Amino acid sequence: MNTYSKFKNIHYLRFVGRRQIVLLFIPVLFVFSCKKEPVPYEYSEGNKVVLYTVPKGFPYPTVPVDNLPTKNRIVLGKRLFFDPVLSRDSTISCGSCHLEDKYFTDNLKVSEGIGKQLGVRNAPTIINVAYHPYFFWDGGNPTLEQQVVGPIENPLEMGFNINEAVARLKKHSDYVKLFQEAYGKEISPFTLTRAIACYERTIISGNSRYDDYIQKGDTSALTTSEKNGMNIFFGEKGECFHCHGGFNFTDNSFANNGLYTTYADSGRARITLKASDVGKFKTPSLRNIDNTAPYMHDGSFATLVEVVEHYNSGGKKHPNKSPILLPLKLTVTQKQDLVNFLKSLTDK
Ligand code: HEC
Ligand code: HEC
Repeated sequence: MNTYSKFKNIHYLRFVGRRQIVLLFIPVLFVFSCKKEPVPYEYSEGNKVVLYTVPKGFPYPTVPVDNLPTKNRIVLGKRLFFDPVLSRDSTISCGSCHLEDKYFTDNLKVSEGIGKQLGVRNAPTIINVAYHPYFFWDGGNPTLEQQVVGPIENPLEMGFNINEAVARLKKHSDYVKLFQEAYGKEISPFTLTRAIACYERTIISGNSRYDDYIQKGDTSALTTSEKNGMNIFFGEKGECFHCHGGFNFTDNSFANNGLYTTYADSGRARITLKASDVGKFKTPSLRNIDNTAPYMHDGSFATLVEVVEHYNSGGKKHPNKSPILLPLKLTVTQKQDLVNFLKSLTDK
């Protein structure tokens, strides 16, 4: 509710701004008074600010004031997300690596970009990115809007350039019209990145059997094995919740979870250049985890059984490995319970 009144205030401010501008330009309007003013885009039906649909137990996401969601923006962003026009050779769209029917991942170890080139990291899902404070495995990108530039300009992904992409879109009269309708502005890096981010924020998932159990109090939603696994996950036996806690199963911090003694990808240290950040990666959400194999920043684990075996071992020795991670000494049944619990986090 708070958020809604915040939206109203923003609109109010916008109208005040408009009036002041109109007042300033009254003499000009006098001279050109025969020129008809177009209907401001704010007034059109598709530009009413809408609310993102948020599952029970989730907070309302933080939305930048210059990119409030409207139907026109979301529809435009979705079209752009799935349009290969944004890659140099028009073969790859965002949706080629974040596939809708694969929970917005590609189920590959590392992604395949233009010219069948292999990338260096595993494609994370974009489900619930509305809640991320920064993006990429190393957190090197600060906003969802800015993130859009990354894959467009990555030579191994879409291999293009944001300005060339804008120039190409301007040749499509339907896009010219859609951008005007959605933002009241022409196609630019500003509006292009905003439209895609506006769509991405609609992809929110929190409707798993685990949520039925927690939010609706449906005690039959989880099996006995899954409940045992949940207790390991949230208890001192498994310690998973320290990093994978909260509604989105992540604390959004960076950790070295002991995958390697020597890291080929330095992770967070790529951004901070600190030796103490080598091998630290953004803790991923575990929602829909059964559907987003393979796992980790390099896709090195094919199954959840392998992941649980890894944590059970306590991980490899590394000076930056989190001190929380110690051998768990789980029994065969407990390991299976933990895997079963992870599988209960899938959106129905
Ligand atoms: C060639 C495959 C590929 C394409 C095309 C691609 N992505 Fe990605 N995406 C990835 C990979 C791999 C990562 C992880 C990169 C990293 O961490 O360095 C990623 C990361 C992301 C993230 C960050 C997720 C997180 O958890 O931090 C978002 C958001 C995202 N992509 C959106 C997009 C959008 C929007 C487009 C289109 C403009 C796009 N992607 C195109 C493969 C791709
Ligand atoms: C110290 C923090 C920490 C703890 C504790 C922890 N994790 Fe993780 N987890 C991470 C990080 C960081 C990654 C990503 C590491 C990478 O890609 O190199 C990760 C990755 C994963 C992944 C793969 C996710 C994906 O999308 O690829 C799964 C599954 C997982 N953890 C489950 C668990 C379970 C189950 C436990 C408890 C036994 C646990 N984690 C304990 C930090 C932690």
